[in-house]
Amino acid sequence: MYQENENRYAEMIYRRVGNSGLKLSALSLGFWHNFGEVDRIDNQRAIMRRAFDSGITHFDLANNYGPPAGSAEINFGQIFKEDFKAYRDELVISSKAGFHMWEGPYGQGGSKKSIIASCNQSLKRMQLDYVDIFYHHCPDPETPLEETAHALDLLIRQGKALYIGISNYSPEQTKKIAEYFKAWQTPFISHQPQYNMFNRTIESELLTVLEQEGLGAIVFSPLAQGLLSNRYLNGIPKDSRAHRSDSPFLTEDQVESTLAKIKQLNDLAQNRDQSLAQMALAWNLRNPTVASVLVGASKVDQLNDNLKALANLEFSEAELNLINRILK
Ligand SMILES: NC(=O)c1ccc[n+]([C@@H]2O[C@H](COP(=O)([O-])OP(=O)(O)OC[C@H]3O[C@@H](n4cnc5c(N)ncnc54)[C@H](OP(=O)(O)O)[C@@H]3O)[C@@H](O)[C@H]2O)c1
Repeated sequence: MYQENENRYAEMIYRRVGNSGLKLSALSLGFWHNFGEVDRIDNQRAIMRRAFDSGITHFDLANNYGPPAGSAEINFGQIFKEDFKAYRDELVISSKAGFHMWEGPYGQGGSKKSIIASCNQSLKRMQLDYVDIFYHHCPDPETPLEETAHALDLLIRQGKALYIGISNYSPEQTKKIAEYFKAWQTPFISHQPQYNMFNRTIESELLTVLEQEGLGAIVFSPLAQGLLSNRYLNGIPKDSRAHRSDSPFLTEDQVESTLAKIKQLNDLAQNRDQSLAQMALAWNLRNPTVASVLVGASKVDQLNDNLKALANLEFSEAELNLINRILK
């Protein structure tokens, strides 16, 4: 039987998502990796319990997380039912549709047909009546944006989602879809982009658009999938994402090509009495438009390490300049 930590809200920081009324824990837990059918369920449960016990209120899923696709939602649903059902109102649970999920013309994209069907499937797999945030996972150039917006708006009207988000949309696409949602008073609150020291694309334009539109950024891969941690300082571990054959998203070449910078960043983190992962998360959170960073973890120890980032979110000018120089 799961016994929750009574002091779970004591140490966490909560930040508002854009101009909405919703606050999220500064750290959220992502289910892209480590929660599939191929991963140990006892480890998944331990990570979820530790997250909730530390004040993390946001769990981020998608239809296609696994592998195989769908299995992260199934595992989440099982553990949720066994451990967290009583805490539903303390959790913000999200899912997404957009990337390839099932065969045929409706298994991906942004048509009304795909989005409504995918959300219904996700709710069934997760054994939930509604999700808190439902995202369109990636733009679909073949579907009129208005149709995608309509489908997302319908999920709100049906009570299947409380808030809407988009992910991987350009600044232009973000402004355009925001117009529809404003006209219909749809609670559109967030954009989920990638953001980390190695990928600062959002700093050039998207963050300004989000500020103007009153949207929050809930950012993914804040540790660049583990590069911005001590994971690869002494080689490539067999159980790491860069080594695992079921994860093609981080390659050994990427590790080799970034290692010199990782080592310099690690030295700076040590001078701040932080681990590199802690410094990387704090660096993301220095930006007020970032409502929450979505961290992944394959072990409870990694989550524990990441949670300590909140002890020091301050950077001096000199530190920020040094980071900029290292990243050049
Ligand atoms: N919207 C989108 O298109 C999109 C895309 C990607 C991700 N996301 C969301 O963002 C979430 C996070 O993405 P991500 O998993 O790439 O995030 P990440 O936090 O950048 O990387 C997580 C990985 O880093 C390693 N790690 C984490 N903490 C560590 C620590 N303290 N010390 C050493 N290694 C550590 C682990 O790698 P090992 O597995 O090697 O141990 C872990 O699996 C996803 O789960 C998903 O919810 C969304």
